[in-house]
Amino acid sequence: MSDLGDGRNGLSRRDVLRLVSLSAIGGIVGCDARPAGDGRAVFSQRGSASGFVPDVELVLTAAPDEVRVLPGALTRVWRFTGRVLKGPADTLQTLPGSYLGPIIRLRRGQRVRVRFANQLAEDSIVHWHGLDVPEAADGHPRRVIGHGGEYEYEFEVTNRAGAYWYHPHPHMRTGAQVYAGLAGLLLVGDAEEDALSLPSGDAELLCVIQDRRFDARNQLVFHGGGMMDMMNGFLGDRVLVNGAPQPTTDVDAAWHRVRVLNGSNARIYKLAWSAGIQMFVIGVDGGLLEHPLRQPIVTLAPGQRVDLLLDLTGLAAGTEVHLESETFAEADAGVVGMAGMMGGRMMGTSARSTVPNGAPLRVMTLRTRARNGPAFRVPDRLSSFDASWSAPTDVPIRRVPLSFRRMEWLLGGRTFAMGDVAPEETVTAGSTHVWEFMNLANGMGMEAAHPIHMHGRQFRIVDRAGGRPTSTLRAGIVDGGWRDTVLVLPGESVRVQVTFTRHPGLYLYHCHILEHEDMGMMRNFRVT
Ligand code: C2O
Ligand code: CU
Ligand code: CU
Repeated sequence: MSDLGDGRNGLSRRDVLRLVSLSAIGGIVGCDARPAGDGRAVFSQRGSASGFVPDVELVLTAAPDEVRVLPGALTRVWRFTGRVLKGPADTLQTLPGSYLGPIIRLRRGQRVRVRFANQLAEDSIVHWHGLDVPEAADGHPRRVIGHGGEYEYEFEVTNRAGAYWYHPHPHMRTGAQVYAGLAGLLLVGDAEEDALSLPSGDAELLCVIQDRRFDARNQLVFHGGGMMDMMNGFLGDRVLVNGAPQPTTDVDAAWHRVRVLNGSNARIYKLAWSAGIQMFVIGVDGGLLEHPLRQPIVTLAPGQRVDLLLDLTGLAAGTEVHLESETFAEADAGVVGMAGMMGGRMMGTSARSTVPNGAPLRVMTLRTRARNGPAFRVPDRLSSFDASWSAPTDVPIRRVPLSFRRMEWLLGGRTFAMGDVAPEETVTAGSTHVWEFMNLANGMGMEAAHPIHMHGRQFRIVDRAGGRPTSTLRAGIVDGGWRDTVLVLPGESVRVQVTFTRHPGLYLYHCHILEHEDMGMMRNFRVT
């Protein structure tokens, strides 16, 4: 285990080595860099045609900071801060005291320019998870910028209303940078959503769930590249919501809209409310479902979002309602059979989390006030967007095995190489394909649930087959609606239908267990 380098105590030797190797990569492929007079690399990317006039212009800076997470000493983190240069002042909402970046609120149709300034001691680049943007605005790792660099994003918001998010995407460092605090919500609104008059203001709760470990001095503990942590993904031993440990929020005894992002590196949550409180799923990654879905539990994998309506009407003042992650068999999230394979101790001393995947956890608490909210009825019909989708008939199918070989997780039989695209990873802009993610058994006792994420367009889940019959995670999986991240449980095959972005260029698909991504369970696809 090692502390996070925070730019104050200096970077560890390992960090320096990584930085050097990343710079080398940047030097080869970072052809958009122009060295400025002061020696800083200045990047100027135009994601759209020249003459782009933004409706909204932001500055987003990533820098070391200190925040109070636990009682006592402040915690050193890395944090996004933002400023609105143009557009509605409420485009950015800072979460007081949190290490999370500001919530960015955009409207469909807005044209957005973001100037990202990197004040970290290492390379970074920002990705807008779930948004369909031009390649130059997608945050591909080959576009990383170094300390003091700036990167200019330009894109139009074409996504429908939904909860998207942003986080860094440098190769091999995404896990460390997100873990250090670099992440934020990006909410898109549109007229279709407005028309539903969903609970808003204090009745809309935005929850970014992440797990973390702290040392005795309240500093974040991350893995030191230990094989177990890389293979399993890094698990914390406590849950934070918006950067606060198990918060309690006072709410009216009214309907609430609860929008949840699993921003954890590797932990899967099986979410349920205590006291038999009713929950309706109204949306997922890519926005509203067509109809609300009554669900007792929701399985939420890293990278995924869920939009819930919660009925707290009629509760007496002072009632506490808990959001819990219910217990499930650790094997449902995968078994890394190191002991059998390599004799355990060879994997080093980096112990697995004391709170493994599947351990029961309290996430947060809502406590009702003696106040009721406005009357509300769950709408039967939430959106008409599903009508534009039909199950595939004559669509090319590509099989994409999720597999394991020589201490590496593979995607489509390969690992990531910066500019590498295989023939079957080349697609025509706007074309429709079915990709079948097959989480294969490998006979080595190496199994993991992999949340597979595709950049660019949202996709549909066609079907899901196989898997452990006893898995209790399966029942909580919502396969309806538009998704950008699909959880493929051990032994499962999941087919997704995707119509690729109309923007040409190099995009990514990868496992959103950030340790898997960083060790290469990621590939490019090229849109031509
Ligand atoms: Cu949320 Cu390519 O990542
Ligand atoms: Cu993404
Ligand atoms: Cu994975």
